[in-house]
Amino acid sequence: MKIIVTGGAGFIGSHTVVDLLENGYEPIVIDDFRNSKPFIIERIKKITNKDFVSYNFDCGDIKKLSSVFLKEKPDAIIHFAADKAVNESVSNPLKYYHNNISTLVNVLSVVNKSKVKSFVFSSSCTVYGVPKKVPVSEFSPIQQAFSPYGFTKQIGEQILSDFAKSNPGVSISLLRYFNPIGAHPSGLIGELPLGVPSNLVPFITQTAIGIRESLIVHGNDYDTTDGTCIRDYIHVLDLARAHVLAFSNYLKKNNKPLILNIGTGKGSSVLEVIESFKKVNKTNLNYTFGPRRDGDAPCVYANSSLAKKVLGWEHKFSLEDALSHAWEWEKQLSIL
Ligand code: WQD
Repeated sequence: MKIIVTGGAGFIGSHTVVDLLENGYEPIVIDDFRNSKPFIIERIKKITNKDFVSYNFDCGDIKKLSSVFLKEKPDAIIHFAADKAVNESVSNPLKYYHNNISTLVNVLSVVNKSKVKSFVFSSSCTVYGVPKKVPVSEFSPIQQAFSPYGFTKQIGEQILSDFAKSNPGVSISLLRYFNPIGAHPSGLIGELPLGVPSNLVPFITQTAIGIRESLIVHGNDYDTTDGTCIRDYIHVLDLARAHVLAFSNYLKKNNKPLILNIGTGKGSSVLEVIESFKKVNKTNLNYTFGPRRDGDAPCVYANSSLAKKVLGWEHKFSLEDALSHAWEWEKQLSIL
């Protein structure tokens, strides 16, 4: 079975390509390496000892994408290609509306003329805004997004709901990620933040290895157990598995997309992540407390029981596993 994976050299994309190869699928990667590096492709081949086809271009290029669809005749597509830095989306919204929305529309226009039977989309827990109640389920209210990035995910979900209605032959799955962290246990692939990381775990590992002076904890005066924000940190391997199950197991029902939360169902505070990182990796970490970061929700974590019911999916890796794998990856990166 041939699966197009746009953004397949990215953080979640590369781990999903590994899972696809290890389970006998034929992934076809399309990536322009704006948020990743070509060496990741070779690393995927090294981990799996399998070869696969990859193309280096912007998947929003309709002409090039159409010729790949014509040549490869894919059965499914997993669309990862998008920008995902919340703070960058605030300072550069047009980049996000272009890359996350018009690219999606271009990809769908090619899918529309193909024999693709299944489309999986990277959505995000940011569609819930600042939830009034936790854990959040797929039926929790969708609120005003607090960044252009979050808004592009809400618009993307709407586009795909409308596409599903007019394309009954294509099963659409929208996976709402919580906080993806970790790396492949081999240390050969992982998160590659270009520039200063905005996400917590890569900032922690870069501080621990000495690239960053110190971690600033954004606010410790929230109404939570220790005053710092709570999130649902999910291992990237568990997230990858959810994609493979989503496209392969989902049978279409009433022309509506399948919407699933993909999280562990457990909330961890920033301080708990810091202490776990120090403990599991037996290392110290410089950090100080700073002011709150705009747009941060005090507490978000998932109710992912629907993913278990519909796909038989549940997370296998712990927070400690993810922090240990992320540290191994950072150490391997530093000797590159
Ligand atoms: C987590 C917590 C920060 C950095 C984002 C996207 C979301 C999803 C996951 C894709 C917050 C605190 C962080 C630092 C800190 N991506 N923090 N110091 O904002 O929950 O979610 O990534 O689907 O869509 O919005 O993740 O890792 O940036 O922050 O104290 O240097 O860590 O304030 O409380 P976030 P994050």
